This record gives sequence, C-alpha cells and structure tokens, in this order.
Amino acid sequence: MSRLQHLLKLICSVLIFAELILGKNDDMEVLIKLKDFLQEHNQVNRGAYDGWLESEASPCNWQGVGCDGDGRVSSLDLSSSRISGPIFGNFSRLTGLTHLDLSGNSITGELPHDLNRCLGLKHLNLSNNLIGGLLNISSLTNLKTLDVSYNRFEGEVSMSLHGTYDKLTTLNVSSNNLRGNITGLFDTCSRLEHVDLSLNHFTCQVPQGMARLIQFNAAENNLTGSISLSMFPKGCKLQFLDLSSNHLFGNLPNSIGNCSGLTYLSLWGNGFDGQIPPGIGAIPGLEKLILGSNNFSREMPLELMNCTALNYLDISGNNFGGELQGLFGKLTSLTNLKLHSNQYTEGIVSSGILRLPKLTMLDLSLNRFSGELPTEFAGMESIKYLVLAENRFSGQIPSVYGQLVQLQILDLSYNNLFGGIPADIGNLSSLLVLMLAGNQLSGEIPKEIGSCTSLLWLNFAGNRLSGQIPTEIAGFYYVESEMTLKDCQNLEGRILKGYGIVTPPSVQPCIILGYVRFSGNLLSGHIPPMISEMRNFNLLLFDDNLLSGVLPSEISQMSLVALNVSSNLIAGKVPFEIGQMILLETLDLSYNNFSNELPSSLSQLFKLNKFNVSYNPLLSGNVPSTGQLSTFDEQSFLGDPLLSLHFADYGPHSEPNNTDLSTEDTKEHVATEETTMVSVIAFIVFFFATIVIREHHNFMGLTVVRKIELLAPFKEIPL
Ligand SMILES: *[C@@H]1O[C@H](CO)[C@@H](O)[C@H](O)[C@H]1NC(C)=O
Ligand SMILES: *[C@@H]1O[C@H](CO)[C@@H](O)[C@H](O)[C@H]1NC(C)=O
Ligand SMILES: *[C@@H]1O[C@H](CO)[C@@H](O)[C@H](O)[C@H]1NC(C)=O
Ligand SMILES: *[C@@H]1O[C@H](CO)[C@@H](O)[C@H](O)[C@H]1NC(C)=O
Ligand SMILES: *[C@@H]1O[C@H](CO)[C@@H](O)[C@H](O)[C@H]1NC(C)=O
Ligand SMILES: *[C@@H]1O[C@H](CO)[C@@H](O)[C@H](O)[C@H]1NC(C)=O
Ligand SMILES: *[C@@H]1O[C@H](CO)[C@@H](O)[C@H](O)[C@H]1NC(C)=O
Ligand SMILES: *[C@@H]1O[C@H](CO)[C@@H](O)[C@H](O)[C@H]1NC(C)=O
Ligand SMILES: *[C@@H]1O[C@H](CO)[C@@H](O)[C@H](O)[C@H]1NC(C)=O
Ligand SMILES: *[C@@H]1O[C@H](CO)[C@@H](O)[C@H](O)[C@H]1NC(C)=O
Ligand SMILES: *[C@@H]1O[C@H](CO)[C@@H](O)[C@H](O)[C@H]1NC(C)=O
Ligand SMILES: *[C@@H]1O[C@H](CO)[C@@H](O)[C@H](O)[C@H]1NC(C)=O
Repeated sequence: MSRLQHLLKLICSVLIFAELILGKNDDMEVLIKLKDFLQEHNQVNRGAYDGWLESEASPCNWQGVGCDGDGRVSSLDLSSSRISGPIFGNFSRLTGLTHLDLSGNSITGELPHDLNRCLGLKHLNLSNNLIGGLLNISSLTNLKTLDVSYNRFEGEVSMSLHGTYDKLTTLNVSSNNLRGNITGLFDTCSRLEHVDLSLNHFTCQVPQGMARLIQFNAAENNLTGSISLSMFPKGCKLQFLDLSSNHLFGNLPNSIGNCSGLTYLSLWGNGFDGQIPPGIGAIPGLEKLILGSNNFSREMPLELMNCTALNYLDISGNNFGGELQGLFGKLTSLTNLKLHSNQYTEGIVSSGILRLPKLTMLDLSLNRFSGELPTEFAGMESIKYLVLAENRFSGQIPSVYGQLVQLQILDLSYNNLFGGIPADIGNLSSLLVLMLAGNQLSGEIPKEIGSCTSLLWLNFAGNRLSGQIPTEIAGFYYVESEMTLKDCQNLEGRILKGYGIVTPPSVQPCIILGYVRFSGNLLSGHIPPMISEMRNFNLLLFDDNLLSGVLPSEISQMSLVALNVSSNLIAGKVPFEIGQMILLETLDLSYNNFSNELPSSLSQLFKLNKFNVSYNPLLSGNVPSTGQLSTFDEQSFLGDPLLSLHFADYGPHSEPNNTDLSTEDTKEHVATEETTMVSVIAFIVFFFATIVIREHHNFMGLTVVRKIELLAPFKEIPL
C-alpha cells in the first residue's frame, strides 16, 4: 500500500470519526431543542424529558432515549409524557432515528413535513393523540410498524399511503376519519401481517389478499360487497378477522375452513345470509365466533362441535328459531352464549345449555320462549349474567334462583310473570343489575332485597307491586372502586363514540349512573328518609304510584341527576334542600298534592333542564325571574293556580309581559298537556341516548348491556 493510500485512509477515518462526533453532538443539540420545545408547550405537567441534563456527556442515558452501537440516537420514546401542543418540527435532524414513539399524549395539529424526512424510521407510533389533517408519510418507505390509531387523521388514505411500503408489517390506523378505497392495499404493502383499519370511513370491498395477513380488523367502516370463495385460499394465515359493522352481504364461503388458525372471527352487524358454513368445523382453535345481527338462516352446522376451544358464541339477531339445538349443549368450553333476538321457542332444558360447566353469560332475550321459568337455571354454578327478558315466560319467579350467588345481572323484564318477588332474591349478594320491569308481579317488595348491597340498577317498573318502599333499600351502596381505571378508560372511549353510560365528565371522571325505578306500581306509604343513604344513586324514579306523606328533605343528600315522583299523592312542602342537589337535571314533581311556597332555592339548580311542578293545585308563591327556574315556560307550571309567574325581581328591561300565565293557560291545558308529555318523553330519549351501550361492547369484563335494558327504565309501559 502506498503512502498516499495510507494517508487517504487516515483522512477518511478521521472524517468518519469527526462525523460521528459531530453527529453525536448534533443529536444532543437537537434533543435539547426538543426539550425546550416541549417545555415551552407544557408549562405545568411534564414528562421525563424534563430531567434531561445538558451537563451529561451523552444523551444516551436520558430517559426515553436509546442509542445505537455508534452512540447515535436511534430511538426516542416519549409515550405517555403528558405532551400537548404541536409535534416538534426537527426530528429529521436525528439522522440515526429508527424508532419514534409519541403515543399516549395530547399532541395536536397536523404532521409536520419534517416527519416525512425521517427516512430511517422503522417504527412510528403516534397512537392516542389528537393529530389531524392528512396522513402523508409517503417518504417513510423503511417503516415496519406504523401505529396512528386513535387520532383525528382524515382524507383519502389510498392516496396518502401511496408509495412502496414493502417493509411494513404492522399498520394500525384505527379510530380516525380516514376514507378511501383500500382494495389494492395489500398489493402495495406486500409484507403486511397485522392490519387494523377499524373505526374509519373506508369504502369499497373487502381487499383481496386478506388471507396473507395474521390479523385483519376492518370493523366499523363502510365496506360493501360479498366475500368470495377465493378470499380464503389454501394456506390462509388469518388468526384474527373482524369485519363487524360494515355493509357486507352474501354467504360466508365454506372456504373459511382454510383459515384453520383462526381464533377470533366476527362478522357482527352485516347483511350476511344463508347457512353458516360447515367449514367452520375445520378451525379447531376457534375461540370467539361472533355472527350476531346478520340474516343467517335457521340451523347451526353440527361441524361446529369440532370447535372444542369455542368459548364465545354470538348468533343473536338472526333467523334462528324453533327448538334450541342440542349442539349448543355440547360446546363445553362456552363461557358466553348469546342467542337473543331470534325466534327460538323451546329447548332451554333439553338442549343441555343449562349444564354447560363454564357458562358465565347467557342471553336468551327477545325470543319466543313460553311456559314457566325452568327451575334448572338454579343449577348453573358459574352463571353471572342471565338475561331472559322479552319472552313469553309466565308463572312465578322460582325461589330457587336465590341459589345463583354469583349472579351479577338478572333480567326477567317484559314477560308475563306474576306472583310475588321471592325473598330468596336477597341471597343474590353479587347482583349489580336486577330487572323485573313489565310483568304482573304483585305483593310487597321483599325487605330482603336490601341484602343485595351491590345493586346498581334496579328496575321494577310496570308491575302491580304494593305496600311500602322497604327501608332496607337504603343498604344499597354501589362501590365505585369496583371499577378499575382501565374499565373507566374503556368506558370513556365508548362515550366518545356515543355508546357510553357514564355521567357527564363534569360530575366525576368515572361514575356509572346508578338508578332505582319503581314507576308504575301500586306502592303506598311515604318515601323513607333513610333512602338518602343511597349516596351514589343518580336516578330515583318513583312516579306513578300511590306514595303519600312528604318528600323527605334528606333526599337532598343523594347525588341525584333525575328525580321523578310525578303522579303520586305526596303532600306538604317541596323541601328547600332540593336546591342543594346541584347535579339535578330532571325534576318532576307534577300531579301530586304539594303545598306551600315553591322554594326559591330551586333557582340554584343550574343544570336543571327538565322541570315540572304542574298540577299541584295548592302550590303557591312566586316563580323567580332570575336563575334557572326562569328558563322554563308555563308548561312546567300548568294547573297550579296559586303559583304566580309574576316576575318579582327584575331590572328595568324585563317588564312583566304576562302576569299570570298559568291561570290563563289552564283553560287550554288539555291540549298543551299532551305536547308537554311528548316533549318530556322526547327529552328522555335524547338525554338517555348517551346511556346506551352497544351490546357487543364490554363493561366490567362482562358483555353487559343490551340497548333495551338500558332503555328499559325509560320505556313507556302501558298500564
Ligand atoms: C428546526 O431547525 C431549524 C434549523 O435547522 C431551526 O431554524 C428551527 O427553529 C428549528 N425548529 C424547532 C421547532 O426547533
Ligand atoms: C403504540 O403505543 C401504544 C401505547 O401507547 C401501544 O399500546 C401499542 O401497542 C403501540 N403500537 C405498536 C404497533 O406497537
Ligand atoms: C406528501 O408529502 C410530500 C413531501 O412531504 C409531498 O411531496 C406530497 O405532495 C404530499 N402529498 C400529498 C397528497 O399531500
Ligand atoms: C394497533 O394494532 C396493532 C396491530 O394489531 C397492535 O399491535 C397495536 O397494539 C395497536 N395499537 C393500539 C394503540 O392498540
Ligand atoms: C357509506 O357509504 C354510503 C354510500 O355507499 C354513503 O352514503 C355513506 O355516507 C357512507 N357512510 C359513511 C359513514 O362513510
Ligand atoms: C377501488 O379500487 C379498485 C382498484 O384498486 C377498483 O377496481 C375499484 O373499482 C375501486 N372501487 C371503488 C368503489 O372505487
Ligand atoms: C381451501 O381453498 C381451496 C381453494 O384454494 C378450496 O378448493 C377448498 O375447498 C378450500 N378448503 C375448504 C375447507 O374450504
Ligand atoms: C371434525 O373433526 C373430525 C375429527 O377430528 C374430522 O374428521 C372432520 O373432518 C372434522 N370436520 C370438519 C368439518 O372439519
Ligand atoms: C333475510 O333472509 C330472508 C331469506 O332467508 C329474506 O327473505 C329477507 O329479506 C332477508 N332479510 C334481510 C333484512 O336481508
Ligand atoms: C337464601 O338464604 C336463606 C338464609 O340463609 C336460606 O334459608 C335459603 O334457603 C336461601 N335460599 C336459596 C334459594 O338458596
Ligand atoms: C315522570 O313520570 C311521569 C309519570 O310516569 C312521566 O309521564 C313523565 O314523563 C316523567 N317525567 C320526566 C321528566 O321524565
Ligand atoms: C311579550 O310577549 C310578546 C309575545 O308574546 C313578545 O313578542 C315580547 O317580546 C314579550 N316582551 C317581553 C318584554 O318579554
């Protein structure tokens, strides 16, 4: 080797070395810029980056920073670092960067062009932020994983994802507002294995090539068309397939059996029809099969018996009917069986489903079962969720049901049950939900019900229950701590999508509205003051009974959002203390015998948006012209001749217009009354629409609430 060559080599090494040093220094400088940027946008709550010290020789030990063998910054993990504000615009100056994780923050704005210059990026995670605009990362062709789920990206993804992504294996764009035709997606991205496109607005057909993936989720989009036989060829690798809530139709091809590694298959909420294919029997490891809300025809294929790992089966909302097939009783791994909204008429005992050893959830509601409730239900040792509502069951509630000590949810509403509520119900100490509405149950509410201390939803509306409200119900304490933070967050996500059951965020971050509804019975006596001990209940609906006595002032100690005692015989004062129930949104005291002055304290109820004291002819006093009560019109005060809508205190600009609207209006109240009621009902539907949970969504580990159950307490019951 010549000297010159030696020299050149030396110079070369020096240059490379220098570049490394300079690169390293540059990395540090960029990170300090990043720190300044983040600090500037987050004055109060800061993540670990706040502790990055410039005095250190290298940033490689800083929290969230990772370096490669050459000491260059290669990964940056700023997940869950309480970052708000826009994205830093100079990540591309970290030229060695391959991993960037900004997930779980509150980053806003759009993607900066700079991000498209981070050519070395292999893993990019921006999930769970508030980033909007176009998803243009067309230059990042080295990406292996891309997760932008739970953001606000919009626009056509087929265009913005343009480019060659032949290294991409994981793509998650779930929960954005993306549109476009994804038909060719798997051709441009040939290595894809895990794809989540759910909760967007993608149109067109199910993409060909789906069978090459391990996981494909396109739930809650706008896909149409049918699934052809060739979409599940030999060698299909799918383990997870979710196409729920789209507009797909046609048969489920028998070739699904080629996807023998499937563990999860959901086609819920499409228009599939025809037979469920026997090919399903070739998928031994299938654990969850969710085919609800389609138009599949009557019989399940017997081959399903081969699916010995099946633990979740949902065929609700199809055309199944007649006698329950013995097949169901042989699926011994089942924990959840949802057969509701079909046309089944018999076979509950003979099918063997009541002997399934692991069954925790059984929903047979909205079918045509009749006859007495089988006592055999009492033998289901692991059952936690039992829903038999909206059938034609008759006879009494068997007292042996009191043995189901694990039961958390029991819904027998809207059948033809009569007789008394058995005292043994009190043995169900795990009950969260007890629904017996819309039957012909009579007799007194057993005081033993007070032993069901964890009750959260109790609905006895529309029966013939008589006697007094048992003071023992004061023992209900719904323990909020039973919900973990994770449950809360899941619920929150659902609320944002309109499925939630949590009170408005202003109340407390995570509370489920607890309620007691005894409406439409023959209950008499007074409302026990002890009821106030049910501190965490939010809705108290005692309307349309024969309750008398006074409304106890102690009620004000509850966190009520709604109170309805309309159509009873309650007399005496409207307690002044009600004005302290600042969460109150609905207050209906109409059709009673309240007397004395309407307390002015009610004007403090700033959330009140439904208020009715009509038809309490002895109610007197002035309706204040300021505060919340002044926002209601005469419809709230009909038939109260002693009550003056005379505006008492007002400024010079609000001269009284009509001094005694209520008395004038009583002449025409027959007509107006109806419109009031209609608007009240409309309001209820609107207000409680947010309480609806979609049935395929989980709640506290159980798939709990069908729409109908949650709407049930507010459903009009013909009497
Ligand atoms: C990004 O770097 C450029 C110089 O390369 C600088 O002018 C700009 O202020 C930097 N932006 C941020 C947000 O630090
Ligand atoms: C992105 O980050 C979140 C945590 O914020 C994590 O749950 C998710 O699995 C990550 N995505 C990928 C593809 O690793
Ligand atoms: C995406 O970004 C690149 C460069 O940042 C730009 O050239 C291209 O026009 C953008 N595409 C769209 C659709 O905005
Ligand atoms: C997005 O989907 C991918 C692939 O299924 C998964 O690994 C990742 O955890 C998901 N991200 C989030 C935030 O759930
Ligand atoms: C779904 O597609 C139909 C037309 O095929 C369109 O009318 C509808 O608005 C789309 N819905 C959504 C949510 O994108
Ligand atoms: C979607 O794109 C494919 C080609 O990639 C095309 O054949 C199909 O007609 C497109 N569908 C729609 C609805 O535009
Ligand atoms: C598997 O796919 C082939 C076509 O590739 C098809 O002929 C065959 O019937 C499929 N197998 C099953 C069990 O459906
Ligand atoms: C069910 O399993 C049996 C034996 O395990 C097998 O012979 C049969 O082909 C399977 N049925 C289907 C439809 O795959
Ligand atoms: C369901 O399928 C039946 C035939 O089995 C058909 O008559 C009916 O129209 C279908 N219903 C819907 C909603 O597609
Ligand atoms: C309910 O508990 C009571 C008292 O412990 C007991 O006598 C009764 O047999 C129980 N009922 C049932 C159905 O288990
Ligand atoms: C209160 O109950 C009555 C009687 O059942 C009903 O008509 C009314 O709509 C309810 N009021 C509100 C505001 O829900
Ligand atoms: C009085 O009522 C009339 C119509 O009923 C309305 O136009 C007017 O604005 C009202 N005046 C005041 C001061 O409220």
